[in-house]
Amino acid sequence: MAPTILITGASGQLGKLVLTELLKTTPADQIAALVRRPEAAAEIEALGVTARMGDYTDPAALSAAMDGIEKLLLISSSEVGQRAPQHRNVIDAAKVAGVSLIAYTSLLRANSSPLALAAEHVETEAYLAESGVPHVLLRNGWYTENNVGTAGMAIEHGTYIGSIGEGRISGAARADYAAAAAAVLTSDDAQAGKVYELAGDASYSLNDLAQETTKLAGKPIAYTDLPEADYAGALVQAGLPEGFAAVLADSDVGASKGALEENGKTLSALIGRPTTPWQDTLADVLA
Ligand SMILES: NC(=O)c1ccc[n+]([C@@H]2O[C@H](COP(=O)([O-])OP(=O)(O)OC[C@H]3O[C@@H](n4cnc5c(N)ncnc54)[C@H](OP(=O)(O)O)[C@@H]3O)[C@@H](O)[C@H]2O)c1
Repeated sequence: MAPTILITGASGQLGKLVLTELLKTTPADQIAALVRRPEAAAEIEALGVTARMGDYTDPAALSAAMDGIEKLLLISSSEVGQRAPQHRNVIDAAKVAGVSLIAYTSLLRANSSPLALAAEHVETEAYLAESGVPHVLLRNGWYTENNVGTAGMAIEHGTYIGSIGEGRISGAARADYAAAAAAVLTSDDAQAGKVYELAGDASYSLNDLAQETTKLAGKPIAYTDLPEADYAGALVQAGLPEGFAAVLADSDVGASKGALEENGKTLSALIGRPTTPWQDTLADVLA
């Protein structure tokens, strides 16, 4: 059978987890994955999934990749600053190919979020609406992995750093968001027009994270709150590019105002199980 579902960003961390979830319910020959590197194609093909080559900047390749596709999962690009035009190319190709549903991974409450990261998602959501292609928005909240990923450094230095104050994050594991995407792609219910605000069942502050890390590491770990510019500077010193450091510091400031807290429990309802406790994700990272 020719593939009818196409996953973009399939070589990424979220995309791989979406493929794993989809393969639990969907024959591999019905799934295709968009990749831009031959090594990634080989990895995908080993799962029995068809790899289709294409970069978000290459409209002709994107058109070819859409052949026969009914449902498309557009996982937002990781190239911050280039995302809106890249996403437009994917949406244009899907429209011409007659794709009947696009699921797009946006950002939690993108339409009202103070995060600078929201702008490209808002632009993409607007372009989807203009395109007339039936679509569903998966407005993903924060990956818990973003925060617990720095646990090793926090243990080394005795503290987490950030600009989030007492703000709380309703983080969920990437695997939870992947399960949601697979559920939407395979649902028997009509999905077009739906907007899912997806987040973890429980929230944490950076102080909570520091306390839990203290327990697991067996040594005191603090949380040090910094002014936005100082935090961005510390991230640059740690080796992050300036632009990305600024985006992360800005996200913390947004989160300090509640932008990443969400209590609707839509994600656990969609996947039919509780979201992964943040404590488990932290324990996994430290294991
Ligand atoms: N909610 C959150 O907390 C959060 C955090 C970080 C990111 N995000 C967003 O969620 C997305 C998925 O997260 P992730 O952790 O899976 O990111 P990731 O591991 O960096 O994966 C990004 C994927 O996008 C692909 N990609 C990037 N630029 C492309 C291009 N020009 N053409 C074709 N493919 C391209 C990458 O391909 P290669 O393998 O070839 O590089 C990779 O498959 C990110 O891209 C970002 O938009 C959300």
